[in-house]
Amino acid sequence: MKCRVAVIGAGVVGLCSAVRIQDSLGDDLEIVIYTEDKSPNTTGDVAAGFWAPYFIQNTPTEKIISGYHFVSVTCEPSKLLPYLEKKFVNRGGKIIIKKIESFSQLNEYDLIINCTGLYSKYLNSDDKVRPIRGQIARVEAPWQFDIQMDDSDDGHYIIPNQDCVILGGTHQINDWNVNPTNVDTTFILDGCAQLVPALKGAKIIKHQVGLRPGRDFVKLELENRNVDGKIIHIIHNYGHGGCGVTLCYGCGGEVAELARVVLRNIRKMCKKYLGNTRQSSLLELELEFIY
Ligand SMILES: Cc1cc2nc3c(=O)[nH]c(=O)nc-3n(C[C@H](O)[C@H](O)[C@H](O)COP(=O)(O)OP(=O)(O)OC[C@H]3O[C@@H](n4cnc5c(N)ncnc54)[C@H](O)[C@@H]3O)c2cc1C
Ligand SMILES: *[C@@H]1O[C@H](CO)[C@@H](O)[C@H](O)[C@H]1NC(C)=O
Ligand SMILES: *[C@@H]1O[C@H](CO)[C@@H](O)[C@H](O)[C@H]1NC(C)=O
Repeated sequence: MKCRVAVIGAGVVGLCSAVRIQDSLGDDLEIVIYTEDKSPNTTGDVAAGFWAPYFIQNTPTEKIISGYHFVSVTCEPSKLLPYLEKKFVNRGGKIIIKKIESFSQLNEYDLIINCTGLYSKYLNSDDKVRPIRGQIARVEAPWQFDIQMDDSDDGHYIIPNQDCVILGGTHQINDWNVNPTNVDTTFILDGCAQLVPALKGAKIIKHQVGLRPGRDFVKLELENRNVDGKIIHIIHNYGHGGCGVTLCYGCGGEVAELARVVLRNIRKMCKKYLGNTRQSSLLELELEFIY
């Protein structure tokens, strides 16, 4: 019998978790992503995808220095997301567009991976999760090749992607407004033109807003929850703030490692004691022993 895994969320974090679980568990697996939205409507679709060291909230101030220059890459989410979706589906994964309102909708699964980003806020009660609003502009400026960031104010930045250049940006905590505002547009265009004057008058492709899933720290952990007497195994992976594109592959790898341990135990228990059926109280014992 194959192990059954449900992933909630098809943002960069959910897709990377799903793909890395496939990498490590291969054919022994039936895996389905349930998601309300997918690309081009996820948070990552707004992001420029700059792969860089970030200060996640609560970084101790003594660790912060005030100037740096380095070589890195951009991993454009608007291209990365469709790539990951395709890879996932080509290996037998399924994506179902559906909002999950409660765990009981997924009770036929051995393991649930929770990658709901900011929106874990709605279902849940994780008070630590809050939006960090980011407005950006996409402009035509094919001569702009390097990234410039100004950390001295709210943080203007210029990040070239393949088909456009992204001008940023805002970091408004607890602001749920998903529509661009004129005040922010002016702030972004003027500030970036001050960094690189040639950007003044660059043709605007569109203005966009994304809500980063802010949290004091990323929540990446296994929970064994008792729902109506049945133990449900959930791996949470959310709260990546302004660096989800940078962290998604590595966090997906950690999820896959946790998943391997949980599923190995489920399988072992199934074979050893129960033939092919499962019984949650025994699983709980075994998992408690492991963890
Ligand atoms: C302007 C801006 C610029 C950024 N720039 C960068 C950058 O340069 N580099 C970088 O590393 N990061 C950047 N980020 C951050 C990065 O985009 C986010 O950290 C990342 O996209 C979060 O991914 P996620 O998968 O956790 O969340 P999301 O993309 O929000 O995905 C959550 C998914 O869960 C689904 N979902 C939620 N609740 C439910 C439910 N109940 N049932 C079913 N489905 C549900 C949603 O539909 C969605 O598919 C930027 C963000 C913004 C806004
Ligand atoms: C994205 O959002 C738009 C506008 O709400 C909608 O028309 C479209 O179907 C959505 N696409 C996906 C893939 O969810
Ligand atoms: C995702 O995690 C949050 C926080 O623990 C939880 O409250 C929420 O119910 C989970 N989402 C789903 C769909 O189970």
